[in-house]
Formats: sequence, C-alpha cells, structure tokens
Amino acid sequence: MTHNPLPHEAPWWRHAVIYQVYPRSFADQDGDGVGDLPGITSRLPYLAELGVDAIWISPFYRSPMADAGYDVADYRDIDPLFGDLSDADALIARAHELGVRVVIDLVPNHTSDQHAWFQAALAAGPGSPERERYVFRPGRGDGTEPPNNWESVFGGGAWTRVTEPDGTPGQWYLHLFDDTQPDLNWDNPEVVEEFQDVLRFWLDRGVDGFRVDVAHALIKDPELPDWHGRAVMANGGDGETAHTHLGPMWDQEGVHEIYRGWRRLLDSYNPTGDPAQDRILCAEAWLPTQERTMRYTRADEMHQAFNFHFLQSPWRVDDVTEVVEASLVAAEAVGAPTTWVLSNHDVVRHASRLGLPVGTPRPNGIGALEPQPNAVLGLRRARAATTLMLALPGSAYLYNGEELGLPEHTALPDAVRQDPAFHRTAGEETGRDGCRVPMPWTAAAPSFGFGPGEESWLPQPDLYGVFAVDRQQGVEGSTLELYRTLLRLRREHDLGVGGLEWLDLGPEVLAFRNARGDGTPVTVITNFGEEPVALPEGTSVLVCSGRLHEGMLGQDTTVWLS
Ligand code: GLC
Repeated sequence: MTHNPLPHEAPWWRHAVIYQVYPRSFADQDGDGVGDLPGITSRLPYLAELGVDAIWISPFYRSPMADAGYDVADYRDIDPLFGDLSDADALIARAHELGVRVVIDLVPNHTSDQHAWFQAALAAGPGSPERERYVFRPGRGDGTEPPNNWESVFGGGAWTRVTEPDGTPGQWYLHLFDDTQPDLNWDNPEVVEEFQDVLRFWLDRGVDGFRVDVAHALIKDPELPDWHGRAVMANGGDGETAHTHLGPMWDQEGVHEIYRGWRRLLDSYNPTGDPAQDRILCAEAWLPTQERTMRYTRADEMHQAFNFHFLQSPWRVDDVTEVVEASLVAAEAVGAPTTWVLSNHDVVRHASRLGLPVGTPRPNGIGALEPQPNAVLGLRRARAATTLMLALPGSAYLYNGEELGLPEHTALPDAVRQDPAFHRTAGEETGRDGCRVPMPWTAAAPSFGFGPGEESWLPQPDLYGVFAVDRQQGVEGSTLELYRTLLRLRREHDLGVGGLEWLDLGPEVLAFRNARGDGTPVTVITNFGEEPVALPEGTSVLVCSGRLHEGMLGQDTTVWLS
C-alpha cells in the first residue's frame, strides 16, 4: 500500500537520524582506556559533519559497571570513569551549539545493588518500607526455594536470597537481569515519584529526551506466577527465535500508565507546543508483534519505539519488504513515526550478522570457535541494508562504528569478556562484548586513536586499523563517505518525512518511490537476486551502496535514483 508524506515542518523526532554513542567505547580523553564524556564532546564536530540530528548516549551514571552501566547506583550523577556533571553539561551545551540534540538512557526497571535504596532495603529487613521499593518475597517451602521459577534474561535464576541484618538466611529479591540489578517495585508510588524527579533533573539540564531501557518490564503480573519459558530479549526473527508467548514479566498493561505520566511531564517542558522544543521518549521493548510494540507510542505515551522487527529480518526480499510495510502500517495505526535500526550495543554488528548464512537465528555474540561470518558479503549487505534504511520515511538509529562498516570482534579471548550473559551461562552464550570494542579513529596511533593510552578496555582486533576514520575520510567509496552522502541526500530530499509508494521491478527486487507532496521523488532499489537489474529509463544515480556493473545493479546492492 501507499504511505502518505508528512508536512515539511513535522517535529524533529518524526524523521531524526539518531546516533548511539556507547560511552565506554567512543573516545577516551584521559587515557585510562575507557571512553569518557570529554572524549565524546571532542568528537561532536565529527558527528555534526556526519550529518546526524541527535545522539543517544548509553548510561553514563554512577555505576559499579556490572552490566556496563545498565546497573545504576545514582541516577543524578556521572560515573567518575566518564567524568562529572560539569562534563555532562559541557557535552550538552556543545552538542546544542552544533545543532545536535542529546537523548540519554534511562534505566527504570532495576537499579544497581549498590544503589542507596537497595543498600537501605538490605539493612532494614523484611516488612520495611525500604524493601517495598523492590520485589522481595519469602522463599517457597522452608524458604530455601525461590518464590517462583523465573529465569534471568542473562541466564540462571531470576531470584537471589539475601542474608538478613541478623545474619540469618532471609528473603529473596527479583532480578530479571544480573543479580546485581534488583528490579524495582513499580506498584509503589514512591518509585513513580522518584523517577519523575530523575526525569526533571535531566530535563532541567537540557537533555532532549530519554531512551527507556526494557520499557516493557516495569510492571509484573502481581501473582508472580510460574512460567515455563526463558525470558529472552528477542522477537520476530526467523524460525527458532520467533517468540510469541511472552511471560508474566513483560508487557503488562500497567506499564502504559507510567509512560502517560512521563509524557505529561515532558510536554510540560514545552508549554507552547513548539515542535522544535519537543523532548522525547523512545521505548526499548522487545515484543513479538509490531502492534504490541507500537502501543507504547500511542498519542499520549512515548514518541518512538525501536523497531527490532526490522533489525531481525532475514536478508530476503520478501521478509524485508514485509517488515517495512508492516512497520509503516503499525506506526500509522497509532499516528507515530516508524523507527529503523540495524545495530546497537546488544546485537552482533550488522556488517557481521548479515555475513552469516541467511536464516541463521540471531546469535548472542560470535566466538572464535563458532562459524565465522563472511566479512566481504556481510559488509556488502550491510551497506545495502543501511542505504535502504536511510531512504525510508521515519526516524533511524545508527550505532557508533557502523558508519565505518566495523565488523564484530569475533575473536575476543574469554578472559576479557565482561558481559554478564557470558558468565551467567558459563560461556554458552558468547555475549555482547564483540560489538562494544572501542572505535578506531587513527590507523597509525596507539589504540587506533581511541585515546592517548596503548590499551583499551576491550582489545581492538588488528583489522580495525583499516576501518579507522582517518583511512576512510575523503576516500571515495569508503563506508564513512557513503554514510555522509546518504545523510546529506536524505536531508536534502526530505526522505524522513516522505511518502512511500511501492514499485514492482521483479521478484528479487525491493523498490519504492519516496516523495514529499511537492518534491521530486527518489527511487530506491535493492537487488537481492543474482540477476543484475537494469535501472529505470530516464533516471540518474544519486548514490549507490556498491558499484554498478555496466549500468546494472548487482546483487546485495541498493541505489537511490532521481
Ligand atoms: C537493555 C540494554 C542492555 C542491558 C539490559 C538490562 O536491554 O540495552 O544492554 O543489559 O537492558 O538493563
């Protein structure tokens, strides 16, 4: 079906390209081998030049880093690894000067076990108001069995037993993730209040929005019933990974009321309703259907939700076409923008993922002893996929390093792995470290220019040198220059607010026209098949993800035409 364009002056978040900065791995200014906020600030001109509208920064809060900062000990402070609050202020100010908006990561489902609230809960004992902020329960039977059979997303049980202040074995607390990440009790009004206040704290500092971590987890079925499934973070996808039965810990109706409250709060920061002043919420919610996901973006809730259905689509013409169409339909049904994403800090980088045989279930990391992706094929498909993605109407998310075509690090030694999923599954799951390896900026510098030090917190593979920014800058045909061109043309042609009209150019071809009401259309073609495809008469090439062969579009290549 055909999808209508938006007015040119549509709010920024309906079409923004948002670049995810993983703070540990972007740029290290102080030389300790871990990225930091001054490092990010120093590289903001690079991002402005790349042409992104906003950045989303993964958690930078005070944290023991048991889950790379997704275990927050203080929501109102910066971890010393990354700097301090004045560094955050400087980052926000500089970004705004450069016309780049700043979205930060909010982790409301759980705190760190080092958070003052959890420490107080441990000290106060059963029945106390301090314990009511978390999900404490007595064990089953004689108390030695966990309250129910839930498993942690990272493997192992979802309950841990505490030792009471008097030294006796005591209650159990729920943690859907690591045991250092106790789940908050969102049925407690004090928790609701606290997060409203945290939102205000950062809105007052000038942030433009929040990416909401595991947004579908906050409310649990009050009965906490047993559930015979593994609480995985996957949806859609292919074969085995298709996962349509959610457990009693996900997507409960009560979560929506929380976000309605947040939306009212954010809207109060824009009393005149000026679209340029909108502050936004984006849901991270891994749900089985687009319809369930888009319920988080109804008019009085969040602005956006990540489109993991697109990310997980197998690289086949029918699958990709179907997921694009279904995404647009589901978004239109609630009046929200679609989002698009191919990589983030939780999944195998798409330059590697797309180099696995089509139909491979999405792996949680790739280890040295596992089947390796085809790097050449993966990069070719990744460039084609991104070129397709950035031509689609809606908002798109990029993950730091993908603009370099960075592959996953698939040969990290186990000894350096930090992902709790690796440790909690005793290595059965490789985990997410391979997509979190620090960025290469300069090929001929220590740590490839990541920082002044020789070492980075995760070792970079030698092959990252050829992907370094300085090797690609100004080099025709490089992945970095491809991204720059795509972002510039996307803006010039207003593709983010364009309409979409499908074209039929053959069974192995995905093709559409993207046009604003009054603009000249851009024709976009991805060839999935072996047969080269002729370009429609009278068109000229704006940009191509690969090389044309005698004017024909080869396999796994996307072209934009005017
Ligand atoms: C989200 C984050 C992930 C984290 C988990 C627990 O899925 O993206 O990195 O481990 O939540 O906070």
